[in-house]
Amino acid sequence: MLRSSNKDSQNRIVILNPKGGSGKSTLVTNIAACYARRGEAPAIMDFDPQGSSMAWLERRSDSLPAIHGIAAYKKSINATRSWQLRVPSGTLNLVVDSPAGLSHDDLRELTRDASSILVPVTPSSMDIHATSRCIADLLLVAKVNRNERKLAVVANRTRKRTKSFERLMRFLDSLGIPIIAVLRDSQNFVRSAEEGVGIQEMPPSRVRPDAEQLERIVDWLDGWQERRRRALDLNRLAVRPRPAVLGKSQFGSA
Ligand SMILES: Nc1ncnc2c1ncn2[C@@H]1O[C@H](COP(=O)(O)OP(=O)(O)OP(=O)(O)O)[C@@H](O)[C@H]1O
Ligand SMILES: [Mg+2]
Repeated sequence: MLRSSNKDSQNRIVILNPKGGSGKSTLVTNIAACYARRGEAPAIMDFDPQGSSMAWLERRSDSLPAIHGIAAYKKSINATRSWQLRVPSGTLNLVVDSPAGLSHDDLRELTRDASSILVPVTPSSMDIHATSRCIADLLLVAKVNRNERKLAVVANRTRKRTKSFERLMRFLDSLGIPIIAVLRDSQNFVRSAEEGVGIQEMPPSRVRPDAEQLERIVDWLDGWQERRRRALDLNRLAVRPRPAVLGKSQFGSA
């Protein structure tokens, strides 16, 4: 699904959670806006037929830094699928929005070439239950390798920490999956969605805590190549043949 020729230089960031309304599109649009602000011309690929990320892009003013949009949910009859899903060459960050209610096949397909996977979760007990299942599916069905450290969780719309949220934290902790940011419940995110702007493009005095958390997310995402290198090194160490045990005879008897 996310075939791309520049695999080594492009961070393919997939945002998913089968639970509707957990904040997938909010993260996708805001992360893309952070990269756009850095002058990196990111791309958003939207697989959700609701098209929330694409609608956000349409609301975005031309005077703001550009973000390329790919409406992957549309089935084009005039173009091949690979043409429709092509990402402009030189795109360093591709941010992928996904629909709620993913099947196992969708999950496998969506994550196959992902270099970073973010799961937003809100602290309601139903969402937490769905997220625990989603993480288990990512590990067991989509076979995301935990050692590659490409999977992280973002807590969203937090007001208070419920018992079930603490349970989720412990669950993630036991799996070694980091919670890289905690976004508060704030009208700033609603405004960002309505106006086609990123939080970091809004007046700093109004959005400081939200912008700081987004910064943390982007900092973590920026470490994707380093994490991959480390995982490759670990793999190499794991398969390196043990040195042969030399028998006495090889030293001769002298
Ligand atoms: N931290 C937040 N504070 C306040 N409102 C938020 C926050 N995050 C998201 N929202 C709002 O919650 C709603 C759902 O968010 P969003 O559309 O990002 O979820 P989603 O996971 O993409 O949903 P769907 O599964 O339907 O695509 C939106 O109206 C969004 O503006
Ligand atoms: Mg959405």
